Amino acid sequence: MTDPAARRWATGRGFAAGTAVAAAMVWLGGTAWAQAPAATAAEVFRDADLPLGERLIREHKCSECHARKMGGDGSAIYRPAGRIGTPSALRGMVDYCSTELNLGLFPEEVTAVGAVLQRDHYRFGMSRPATTTKP
Ligand code: HEC
Repeated sequence: MTDPAARRWATGRGFAAGTAVAAAMVWLGGTAWAQAPAATAAEVFRDADLPLGERLIREHKCSECHARKMGGDGSAIYRPAGRIGTPSALRGMVDYCSTELNLGLFPEEVTAVGAVLQRDHYRFGMSRPATTTKP
């Protein structure tokens, strides 16, 4: 990203598309998440459509594949203390998976899926444990 126009675009878009792409690239490069801007979960997942996110997670069989790799219900793959350390990084990871798996999710669908994972697993910025039961 040496093109100043591209950088300005990414910065101006805040945590939306620009950061998601940047986050995926940072992830691919193996660099620390600390570089990502510290947007709060409320900002990143503002207006998220949670029922839509739940449906997309079911429809795309996210848990089936994760369960094959991790055993159990697959939720052990979500490691809040691991590589994904911020809400922006979480959303970026969902965006990256969507692209890699050719899911073709719209930006608001990526946000919805990320918001469900935030609520049920990652809980950035929340002190209480998840109260919802998994489907
Ligand atoms: C074809 C198999 C497969 C499918 C389908 C899949 N994933 Fe994954 N996912 C993986 C694997 C494998 C990893 C772990 C990669 C690693 O740890 O190196 C992973 C990791 C993740 C992580 C990061 C977990 C962490 O905290 O490090 C997230 C978030 C994630 N997946 C979300 C999703 C979502 C959302 C969907 C459905 C829209 C999905 N995945 C569908 C295989 C899959």
